[in-house]
Amino acid sequence: METKAPRGTYDILPPDSAAWHYLEGVLRSTAELYGYQEIRTPMFEHTELFERGVGTSTDVVSKEMYTFFDRSKRSLTLRPENTASCARAFIEHRVYSGMLPVKWYYIGPMFRYDRPQTGRFRQFNQFGVEVFGSRSPYLDAEVIILLVDILSNLGLMEYELHLNSVGCPKCREVYREKLIEHITPVKDSLCEDCNQRYLINPLRVLDCKQASCHQVIEGYPTLAANLCDSCQQHYSQVQSILESNGVDFTHDDNLVRGLDYYTNTAFEIHIPGIGAQSAVGGGGRYDGLVEECGGPATPGVGFAMGLERLLLALNLLNLQQTGKNGLDVFVITAGDQFEELSFQVVQELRTAGIKAAKDHNGRALKAQMKYADRLGAALAIIIGEDEVKSGQLTLRNMGTGEQQSLAAVDAIDRIKEMLV
Ligand code: HAM
Repeated sequence: METKAPRGTYDILPPDSAAWHYLEGVLRSTAELYGYQEIRTPMFEHTELFERGVGTSTDVVSKEMYTFFDRSKRSLTLRPENTASCARAFIEHRVYSGMLPVKWYYIGPMFRYDRPQTGRFRQFNQFGVEVFGSRSPYLDAEVIILLVDILSNLGLMEYELHLNSVGCPKCREVYREKLIEHITPVKDSLCEDCNQRYLINPLRVLDCKQASCHQVIEGYPTLAANLCDSCQQHYSQVQSILESNGVDFTHDDNLVRGLDYYTNTAFEIHIPGIGAQSAVGGGGRYDGLVEECGGPATPGVGFAMGLERLLLALNLLNLQQTGKNGLDVFVITAGDQFEELSFQVVQELRTAGIKAAKDHNGRALKAQMKYADRLGAALAIIIGEDEVKSGQLTLRNMGTGEQQSLAAVDAIDRIKEMLV
């Protein structure tokens, strides 16, 4: 039997799971500070949702989806991202008929059949926020400020924020034609991917990873110079709100994002030094998505960040605060006849809210001590002949090795004092 997890997936074992709890805690508390509430959507959706929402010409939909037929021959897809699912939930539950905007956040696994490498997995975790129901440039700025705030709450101060506007369908259509006109004469010098897709999606040539494609299209017309008045105004407002809130960013003419739903603001945040996959987050405005998915025209804006990449950055900078992970008390049983008593003591400690455990494999005293250490116990209590006779427990500080005795009747209160 195959005992390896599928390629591009991995297990999170203790004690590493503590780092995830820490990270998720910072993400949740920062999002809630900004008034965002959690939404949970299914891991899989009807395939059509992503085809319509994300777009059939994108790499995510055309190459990377885990699509399967269920036993009733429905085409379903493991979600490659969560913005389309949020739009679907917004429509399904008629959230649009309530007070808008709504501000949601989510944390959970996404699935993409991509080539695994450092920072890139086939099952990976995203934290994201989505705001439905307002066109205000203050919300574009708010989600970006939230993203930056998360990084700073994690202690990640070295990042690069790239910003662009991809315009609205009207000005982008005019721009598309201009770009195709610029690319057509040099199309044969582009990489194979760009050569194939420049007529369908010429904007993707702008963010091609091949440096040669950038040389070939040098002097290309930029999106920023071709925005209509209203898109231009929106973009200027977003930039000036960010500036007046002290957010550093770089306008990036090459930033177009890989998903079709974006309109106006688009952004990406990179942490240099974590490898080729340096984008820890990306997002933007998507004013046409809800309508595209069958709902009433409703603007939206949001972003998602990759948790694996954030942990990679935290690890590299040694910033990971795993928090308290181990046990409070390990109960050592000195003699088989005290098994039942020590089991009861463990239960009493747990009832009092103290994290406690004991040995169940008949280990000798020394080996129990080693096991307690392995489990990260702060304290150990020894229960044996002497303790039962005297009504005094022996308490050992696992960090310093100091031992003291305390009356069994006061034990819980004293342990609680020692743990704070
Ligand atoms: P995305 O840029 O495709 O956007 O993904 C967002 C983040 O997820 C990336 O910046 C990266 O950190 C992480 N990520 C993506 N693919 C992988 C992978 N294969 N392995 C590890 N991490 C990965 C979206 O998904 C949009 N839904 C974001 C959004 C929300 N836009 C508006 N609202």
